[in-house]
Amino acid sequence: MLDGPLGAGKTVLVQGIGDGLGVRGPVTSPTFVIARVHRAGRLPLVHVDAYRLRDIAEIDDLDLDASAQESLTVVEWGSGLVEGLADAHLRIELSRPRGGRGGDEPGDADERHARLVPVGGDWAARLTRLEMRA
Ligand SMILES: Nc1ncnc2c1ncn2[C@@H]1O[C@H](COP(=O)(O)OP(=O)(O)OP(=O)(O)O)[C@@H](O)[C@H]1O
Ligand SMILES: [Mg+2]
Repeated sequence: MLDGPLGAGKTVLVQGIGDGLGVRGPVTSPTFVIARVHRAGRLPLVHVDAYRLRDIAEIDDLDLDASAQESLTVVEWGSGLVEGLADAHLRIELSRPRGGRGGDEPGDADERHARLVPVGGDWAARLTRLEMRA
C-alpha cells in the first residue's frame, strides 16, 4: 500500500519496482483505468490507483484477492481500502520533507522520505531481513 499526498512519488516508486522485477515497457499512472497488470517480469506487477475509488465494493470487483496470491500488488492511495482486502501488507508512506525555516513549503524537490510500516502476517520479520541487507 502506497500512501502519500499528490506528487509524493508513488508512481515513480512503482516504476522502480517494475524495473526491479524486469517488467518491460513503461509503468505509467493507471489513474484513468484504475488497475493495470504488467507481465513478463519475475512476478506479475498489479498496479492499482485507488484515487477515484472510494468504495470497497469497487476495489472488490477488481478481484485483487485472487491476483495477490501470485502477483506483487501495489495500490496507490490504498489507505482505508487495502485493509479490508489484505490483512497482511506493507504500508509505504511517502512524503516530501519540509523546507527550512519551519515553513510548510516542501524542501528539496528531489528528496523523498519513505516510512515502511509492516502490517500483519510476517511483514515485520520480512522488514527486518530487508533492513539487515540494506
Ligand atoms: N524519489 C524521487 N526523487 C525525485 N523526484 C521524484 C521522486 N519521486 C517522484 N519524483 C517526482 O515527483 C513528481 C510526482 O511523482 P509521482 O507522479 O510519482 O507522484 P504520485 O505520488 O504518484 O502522485 P499522484 O498522487 O498524482 O499519483 C514527478 O515529477 C516525479 O518525477
Ligand atoms: Mg501516481
